Formats: sequence, C-alpha cells, structure tokens
Amino acid sequence: MLLLASLCVASLVSVQALDNGLALTPPMGWLNWERFRCNIDCENFPNDCIREELFMQMADIIASEGYKDAGYEYVNIDDCWLAEERDANGRLQPDPDRFPSGIPALAKYIHGKGLKIGIYQDFGVKTCGGYPGSEFYMPVDAQTFADWQIDYVKFDGCNSDVRDFDEGYTVMSRFLNLTGRPMVFSCEWPDYQTRQGIEPNYTAIRSACNLWRNHDDIQDSWQSLLGIINFYGEDTYNFSSYAGPGGWNDPDMVIVGDFGLSYDQQRVQMAMWAIMASPMLMSVDLRHIRPESKALLQNRNVLSINQDPMGIQGKRIMEINPVQIWTRPISPKGTFAVAFLNPSEGGMPSTLSVVVDDLGLTNGSGYNVTETFDGVSMGTVKPGQNITISVNPEGVYLFTATPL
Ligand code: GLA
Repeated sequence: MLLLASLCVASLVSVQALDNGLALTPPMGWLNWERFRCNIDCENFPNDCIREELFMQMADIIASEGYKDAGYEYVNIDDCWLAEERDANGRLQPDPDRFPSGIPALAKYIHGKGLKIGIYQDFGVKTCGGYPGSEFYMPVDAQTFADWQIDYVKFDGCNSDVRDFDEGYTVMSRFLNLTGRPMVFSCEWPDYQTRQGIEPNYTAIRSACNLWRNHDDIQDSWQSLLGIINFYGEDTYNFSSYAGPGGWNDPDMVIVGDFGLSYDQQRVQMAMWAIMASPMLMSVDLRHIRPESKALLQNRNVLSINQDPMGIQGKRIMEINPVQIWTRPISPKGTFAVAFLNPSEGGMPSTLSVVVDDLGLTNGSGYNVTETFDGVSMGTVKPGQNITISVNPEGVYLFTATPL
C-alpha cells in the first residue's frame, strides 16, 4: 500500500526540495507534550487534560501576554487528541468528549487570535500513545489536515519500521504539498534512525521536512537538557550543516518555566537554542509561569539570535575544561553570537580568558561586544586581545561580537 501510494505520488510530483515556503526561520510556538503529556483524565484534571480548552487558553495568553509580539506563532497539539477509531469514512476524528467542537472550530479560534494551529500524527499504524496512526492513510490524513485548516503537522515514528522512513516521510511530505495548503512538516525521522544505528540521510530529510528531531525526547531536567546540548556539540554526521532557511534541526521543546531547571539553567536553554538555531516550541503552563521565566522566553535579544535570517546553526568550537565555547555566525555579516556554557556543578563561577582570534574573531578593526540577555555593552576588542568571561555553574554567558 505504502509503495503503491509512493509510486502514484512520484508520477505526479518531481520536485526534490521542500517548496512550501515555510519556516524560513526556526518555528516558534507552543506544544503541549513535555508539560501536559497524555493526560486524558479530564474528570480529575479538568485544567490540565488534553482538551480543546487547554489550547484555547494557551492561544489567549500567547496573543495577549506578549508572546505573539515576541514571535511565537504556532499553537500545537501533540499526541492523545484522537478518538480511538477513525470515522466510518476512514477519516481521523478527535476524541468527542475532549474536543466536542471539532478541530476546524479550534483552528478557527486559534486563527482568530492571529495565530496558527499544529497537530500531531504518526507514520506508523498507531501513534506513540496508541491512537490511530497514518500508515495506509497518508493521503486522506494529509487532506483532512488541509480541510481542517491546519498549519503545522508533527509526524512521529512509533509503531513502524524505521527502514521505511526514507520513503514514507518523503511521501507524506508530498501528500501535504499536494493539498495546496502550506503546512510546516515536523519530522522525527533521524531521531528514530540514529537510535537504531542508522546514519540518517540528512539531504533527503531536508528535502522533505521543515524541522526534524535528531535526538531523545526532552524531559524536565538539567540532565536531559545537557544530554541534548552535548549531542549537538558532538554533531555526529555533521548534521548542523543541514540547517538553514526552510529546514531546521530540532532539539525538542523549550522547558523554561517548568519544574526542573534553575534560573541559570533556563538561561542555558534559551542561549543554546539561540546558538543552535533551534525551533522554539515552549512546553509550559503559560497560565502559571514565573515572571522571570516569562521574561526569558520573551527576551528579544536572545530571540533575535535564534531567528537570525541567515539561519546558520552554531557549533561547539572548543572546550576549556569545564567550559564549552559555541559560536554562531549571524547578521550583519561578520557578526558572531558566542556562548560560554559552564556545565559544572562547582559552587563558584568559572572565569576564563580567551584570545579572541581563537573564537574566530579576526576582523582587524575589532568588534563591539555586547552581553545578550541584558543588552549591556562590554566595550570593544581587537584580534590579539583577550576576552575574559565569568560564567556561573550550570549557567551560560552569551554575547555578540559585531565588527567595527
Ligand atoms: C514521542 C515523541 C514525543 C511525543 C510523544 C507522544 O515520544 O518523540 O515528542 O510526541 O511521542 O506520544
């Protein structure tokens, strides 16, 4: 069935690149999974279960409390929105008790706030949560999402054979394109392949997806966050080089404002997601968030690095035990964002001095240096000079260097 579907599509479409014109910078929005999981018990958890009100409330807050103005746009539904069975025509349907108005009504509500709506499905026979998957139904599901006015589709990989991914994800991408409705396509293709020791074909992935998960699901902990950052630092298969306008590596949701991270650790995620040109999909209860976390999520200086139009993903360029140094070229040309990340638990900040040439800062006239979170000028430096940085334990120091 899958092969047949793919042959039909191949004869209709010959484009190799994903040409939906979307995600020219990393997508920004909200996704329920990390914070709200598959809580379907609305009787005992009426405010926290996966139901239409949750997404409406998040859309309200994103629109009214500065998130939208900061660039957050997508309100995304993850797993567990579906009914146990497809309808009589084989089409997907939401759980009738938890989404009684239906997805088109929810889409209309979210669009009415000037925002966009995303939804979740799975390449396999069932989603990770055990709901009906898209295998054997990809054309009808793509059309259903378009009919419902969906703007973004996250496509998971549970309950399927990873050897089918190269073909299957490509086919789903084409079915989405064939609907004529632009929908961001978020894939988990390389994540599942890497876990099974298969080298992902990042050229093919970039041709089919707007973003793609490379590694494990984020959990609400520093250990999980650091594990993902280190995986990106290793950059196995040089996957960082595939990021750019239209297609992004996805290190998973932003957990700023949840339970697990200290304030400094939250700054680490913001800074590193900016350096790594990562999608910014907040997974936090925006109804109950501390002001300092909200301010971090809306920090314009950090977000402007994240959203830099050149779209070059930053890399870890050196480690001066224990501090990792990461750089990202941003606009205007010749400018760099630089992060000093201190993963150590030591009780006092680590202070280190680096010759700026070692950071790749070689412009003869020197650079204006500005700390990013607070926008504080640190003066100027020239090649040959040292820059001295003090960085908190499990913390980060983020700055930009702009050529003079
Ligand atoms: C997988 C994905 C997660 C989430 C869950 C839902 O684990 O990687 O991001 O979508 O499935 O069940």
